[in-house]
Amino acid sequence: MAKKKETVVNSLSEKEAKKEIAKLMEEIRLHQHSYYVKNNATISDFEFDKLFRRLQDLEEQFPQLKDPASPTLIVGSDLDKDFEKFQHKLPVLSLINTYNDDELLDWVNKTDPEGIYSVEWKIDGASIVLYYENGMLQNGVTRGSGGVGDDVTDNIRTIRNIPLRLPDSKSVYLRGEVFMTYKDFEEFNEISSGKYANPRNLAAGSIKQKNSSDTAKRPLRIFAYDATFPNQTKKIKTHQEILSQLDQLKFPLAPDTVYVTGSKIAKTIKDFKKKKESLGFPTDGLVIKLNDISKRDALGYTSHSPRWARAYKFDAVMKESKIVDITYAVGRTGKITPRAEIEPVNLAGTTVTFATLHNQDYIDELGVGIGAIVRVAKRGEIIPAVEEVVTPGKDVFKIPDRCPSCKTKTIKKDGLVDLFCPNSDCPDRVKNGIIFFCQRKQMDIEGLGDKQIEFLYDQDYIRSIADLYDLKDQKEKLMEEEGFGEKSVSIILKGIEDSKQKDFRFVLPSIGLPEIGHKVTELLIEHGVDSIDQILNISKDADKIEALLEIPGIGPSTVQAFRENFGDKKILKLIERLKKAGLKMKADPIKVADRQPFAGQSWCVTGSFENFQPRDKAMDLIVYYGGRKVSAVSSKTTHLLAGPGAGSKLEKANELGIAVYDEKQFLALLKSEGINFKDSI
Ligand code: IVH
Repeated sequence: MAKKKETVVNSLSEKEAKKEIAKLMEEIRLHQHSYYVKNNATISDFEFDKLFRRLQDLEEQFPQLKDPASPTLIVGSDLDKDFEKFQHKLPVLSLINTYNDDELLDWVNKTDPEGIYSVEWKIDGASIVLYYENGMLQNGVTRGSGGVGDDVTDNIRTIRNIPLRLPDSKSVYLRGEVFMTYKDFEEFNEISSGKYANPRNLAAGSIKQKNSSDTAKRPLRIFAYDATFPNQTKKIKTHQEILSQLDQLKFPLAPDTVYVTGSKIAKTIKDFKKKKESLGFPTDGLVIKLNDISKRDALGYTSHSPRWARAYKFDAVMKESKIVDITYAVGRTGKITPRAEIEPVNLAGTTVTFATLHNQDYIDELGVGIGAIVRVAKRGEIIPAVEEVVTPGKDVFKIPDRCPSCKTKTIKKDGLVDLFCPNSDCPDRVKNGIIFFCQRKQMDIEGLGDKQIEFLYDQDYIRSIADLYDLKDQKEKLMEEEGFGEKSVSIILKGIEDSKQKDFRFVLPSIGLPEIGHKVTELLIEHGVDSIDQILNISKDADKIEALLEIPGIGPSTVQAFRENFGDKKILKLIERLKKAGLKMKADPIKVADRQPFAGQSWCVTGSFENFQPRDKAMDLIVYYGGRKVSAVSSKTTHLLAGPGAGSKLEKANELGIAVYDEKQFLALLKSEGINFKDSI
């Protein structure tokens, strides 16, 4: 019988290619494991890229040999789709919270004081369930309601420390938390113009991206914390065994987990609290679980949570209240935020009557409706949030699918969990846009608060920010309105007139265009794009727009927004009107002192300061005295001014041997140069 002819490409036979692909996959997987799981790179990035590219080349030449578990697949697809719903194979339960040692120890004593418990970090990210069948990752699913979640498999496949194939052809249903380290968050947020509030929100948003190639760009990781092995005959006896099997299967586990008897828990918590500050990833507490599986089985579950585990939340000030109504606000970007109106409670010194419910996913996860008894808390953000449900109330609340202000059908945006009103003429959006424009941080127009702007809009005095500059023509009429006496009208008109002196540095971000905030404006100006004419000139030329990417700190999403904003006729018309009204459309040259003691130096700033708030004030001073300000630490940076909260910039400066000044040293430096900073800022 004649031998089947083998495909031969580039002098490599299919058989040889198959062998090399298998070898490359194995090698890459091991390096990835060392890098992402063990945090210990075994080869240089360059060497790694070489292996990776060789594998990509071979897979291109021999598509029939491409393994569905190939590491090259982590780049992800660009399909734009909504997520399919996935019925979980086991109920995905949550935890009952405790807020202090007494509450927790009370539970331990009632449950099994002599028993052994695991104490582990409660990672603050996004909960995920991974389903592996016969060793292959089949589905990655969000927790959702606990019964049904969103199938985000394509996105999950891009997370580099999640194995796509297990070393063993086992079936595993695994739970874990997708998160971002503080360092990765800071770096990613820096290139995203600081638009993300915290690593938890960014991680949760990242796994819900519509394009998995966008998820792939985000430095996500996972820690696994629980699993079942559906086909395994050998009975697992303890939680410790579960985690050790996960470890053998090369899943990353959170550090520091310990197993202690009930009497040692209080001391263990103290030890964990000490470590918290130096931890590289976000955590909002600990999880304490009974180790013995047979004891767990005997205790069982409530409808939502196991009786054999508790979360121990760090430092949360919580208050119970009742939801009397749920309303929703439409922001200037169109984002719809549901808010619970609650019976007033005192929280950290203030009376709270509203608490945010963030978005529909959050409402679904809590399973909350009007009439529910809930716990509200203030976290880092100013607005209190509904954190958990004590009793659920009526039906789970559903945000209507029409904008509450203009009744346009709401939409979802590229993977964000929020709903948006797409109508740029929506009254609430426009009003909030004008409110934003007048705010202190923006154009700082005196006399125009939320109430006045709402009135002026509702009574047809103004329909856009440009109309503010024609308001003087209606002065007489306005003075006849209730609450608008001669005095207040002249304050308003003077405030509007004065705003014409505001530098372009304020004018551009105040317009409120997506992505074009203060940071981006400053970067553009720093790089010579310092007027609206320059911006409009660039926006007419695709190559010039693309070249903006060369500015450190400006990424693809900003460039895309730049293209869209300045290609939009409505926006161009608005800009034209603002220009005609006399607003400054070119940045003022930065004033400089006669003496230039900082000449030739490049300063970067990070962290916060007592005497310079915002910290840009310190930078303005440096520039005034001849220095250059830079937004990222590089080999060209000569000095770093670092306050409390400094992160990766400080690390990098130390690595590069750059002179680092804290606030005290900086003040001493100013003094030695004869600079009285209080006069200068
Ligand atoms: S155990 C039945 N362990 O906290 C097992 N959860 O409501 C229940 N979380 O949705 C979860 N770190 O996303 C467990 N070490 C940990 C965890 C952890 C974070 C999250 C998880 C869950 C939520 C608790």
